[in-house]
Amino acid sequence: MSLYDVAFTAALPSPSRTQPTQQRWNARASSDLASSRDRQAQAMLASVSVGVGALAACAPRRQRPFPRSLTKRRAFFDFGSQPPKKTVIITGASSGLGLAAARELAKSGEWRVIMACRDFVKAEKVAKENNFPEENFLVLHLDLAANSSVRQFVSTFRSLNIGLDALVCNAAVYFPNAHKEGAFFPGLFPGGGPRWSADGHELSFATNYLGHFLLCNLLMEDLKKSSVKPARCIILGTVTASINDKEVGGMIPPIADLGQLQGLESGMKKPTTMIDNGRFNGAKAYKDSKVCDVMLMRELHKRYHESTGICFSSLYPGCIADTNLFREHYPVFRFLFPILQKEVTNAYVSEEEAGRRLAKVVSDPGYAQSGVYFSWGGESGTGGAGGTDAVENMDASNDRFLQYGSFRTLKESEIGGDAGDDERCKRLWNLSEKLVGERFS
Ligand SMILES: NC(=O)c1ccc[n+]([C@@H]2O[C@H](COP(=O)([O-])OP(=O)(O)OC[C@H]3O[C@@H](n4cnc5c(N)ncnc54)[C@H](OP(=O)(O)O)[C@@H]3O)[C@@H](O)[C@H]2O)c1
Repeated sequence: MSLYDVAFTAALPSPSRTQPTQQRWNARASSDLASSRDRQAQAMLASVSVGVGALAACAPRRQRPFPRSLTKRRAFFDFGSQPPKKTVIITGASSGLGLAAARELAKSGEWRVIMACRDFVKAEKVAKENNFPEENFLVLHLDLAANSSVRQFVSTFRSLNIGLDALVCNAAVYFPNAHKEGAFFPGLFPGGGPRWSADGHELSFATNYLGHFLLCNLLMEDLKKSSVKPARCIILGTVTASINDKEVGGMIPPIADLGQLQGLESGMKKPTTMIDNGRFNGAKAYKDSKVCDVMLMRELHKRYHESTGICFSSLYPGCIADTNLFREHYPVFRFLFPILQKEVTNAYVSEEEAGRRLAKVVSDPGYAQSGVYFSWGGESGTGGAGGTDAVENMDASNDRFLQYGSFRTLKESEIGGDAGDDERCKRLWNLSEKLVGERFS
């Protein structure tokens, strides 16, 4: 079995397979591979096969669902029969913003989307439900909360030998109530305390920031080789992370604050939860991690933009008040928050709209600046006019916070606070290298 076949089968649909059959096929495929000398194929198979029915197609003697000539034409990796396409990796493309942007790019016909997801089956399912063109997407397993998984993902991706033109660091988790111990009503405050990554770090720090730190660095060589100029690396930020002190969202407590990075200095391992070594607060841990994301973007820009031409940027996509990001919030909040954003603040942005915004930052020549943070704040307003698609919302107006602007175009926002502090960004980088056990530049 060639590399082509392994990769190809991962992209094929598997509608009619039963679970036991899949397991037999997986076992058979693994033992076949064990005798192969191709170590790269093994590494890739290990990653691709996590929870995947797709590997079933590797089984010998299995009938292909289509004649070889047809399936070859439809295959993701067959450059010969398709116009050249650009490749983008999107982390967390199985839900919310990541899914919406992946759909936008896959359907554009110009991009092949690698959906880098922790739940392979879910990602395959949503891609099909959203009618992603089969030749334009591939799901690869990535759990950002385990450094070994990040390394495995990169090795699997390289084995495909398809080049990389853009990387979107989008995946995130948010545990706003994890630090709340008391429960007035059952289920109202999930609580539960901090959660931990495979490497022993607080989970939102590990998933939202550290996993992406490692991923960006490992994939830098791939981005450098891109024939698309400029290659891009986009890291999602958020207004609530106080990127500057002018956005209303950044002033809502708990306010992001990295202190003197004492938690990081001490190794950021259990029981340490917070970067400033303070008391655990789930909402603050999320905001701190997003500040680190913007600091990562700035440090990547400083280290690599001039020498490589790669463009690094961050963005606040708008308040997408009903994504799964809020899955751990209490039900009443999940019910009222979108209503508040639609009816009172006018800040609500739909997943589709936010997906289009992100897709623009990936592919539109107008968003090829480096070292910048795009936002709808400040001059361009705070949100999305209560859900009205920005395309129909070209006229500038005042929002409820009396900020004047149009929501049609992303604007560059000033980067302030911890994220605007060069020395701090450098220290964060150095300490992050220690945490992942590797020096990058
Ligand atoms: N929603 C908003 O209002 C808003 C505002 C500002 C910024 N953002 C940013 O936008 C980005 C996307 O958020 P969203 O609202 O779309 O949230 P979402 O719907 O919850 O999507 C988050 C994605 O991350 C994935 N993920 C979680 N842990 C992971 C891990 N360990 N490894 C790999 N993937 C993992 C999730 O996978 P599963 O599908 O398996 O859960 C999901 O695909 C985040 O960076 C967030 O900070 C959102």
